[in-house]
Amino acid sequence: MSKNILLGVSGGIAVYKAVALVSKLTQAGFNVKVIMTESAMKFVTPLSFQALSKNDVYFDTFDEKDSKVIAHIDLADWADLVIVAPATANIIGKLANGIADDMLSTTLLATTSPVWIAPAMNVHMYEHPAVKRNIKQLADDGCSFIEPSEGFLACGYVGKGRLEEPEKITELVIKHFNREGKQ
Ligand SMILES: Cc1cc2nc3c(=O)[nH]c(=O)nc-3n(C[C@H](O)[C@H](O)[C@H](O)COP(=O)(O)O)c2cc1C
Repeated sequence: MSKNILLGVSGGIAVYKAVALVSKLTQAGFNVKVIMTESAMKFVTPLSFQALSKNDVYFDTFDEKDSKVIAHIDLADWADLVIVAPATANIIGKLANGIADDMLSTTLLATTSPVWIAPAMNVHMYEHPAVKRNIKQLADDGCSFIEPSEGFLACGYVGKGRLEEPEKITELVIKHFNREGKQ
């Protein structure tokens, strides 16, 4: 049976890569559902994710489409793996501190599935002590990280902060389920 991947998309310039990631994951045979933050929707509309995942896209905690379930709990339980890509400094900070003030952050607290975080941000943001502290906290809490790569950043800097390529993330997901003999 194919596995369920819940992709959380927060508001960074690398949102365009999350669109490609949904395409790669669905081509690889995974069921994908997407939650977007308000900021993510400034970069790309939910329609792109909806069309590629063939599923509804979630962004409003209070938009309960199915009266039989509570959407954020249902999604949290549905997921075999949760990936946040791109993960902004903001969503990393919120999760590290247990803040649940939108659909993505609320669902992240509600899931008991593995959570993988793929940070993407300006190199100075990535190296900020507060961000480092939050990443360490999340690692201690059991989250896994897909480290950003080094290279040219959209902000004009060259450094660490680029979201890992969708192909590479898809490979990691396939390996994860193969390792667990679960795919
Ligand atoms: C053009 C632009 C690009 C941005 N890129 C990033 C980014 O790559 N990483 C990041 O952490 N924040 C980035 N931000 C800032 C976030 O959008 C902002 O912190 C926002 O509050 C994040 O909200 P969210 O975590 O709920 O999506 C960017 C903002 C703008 C205007």
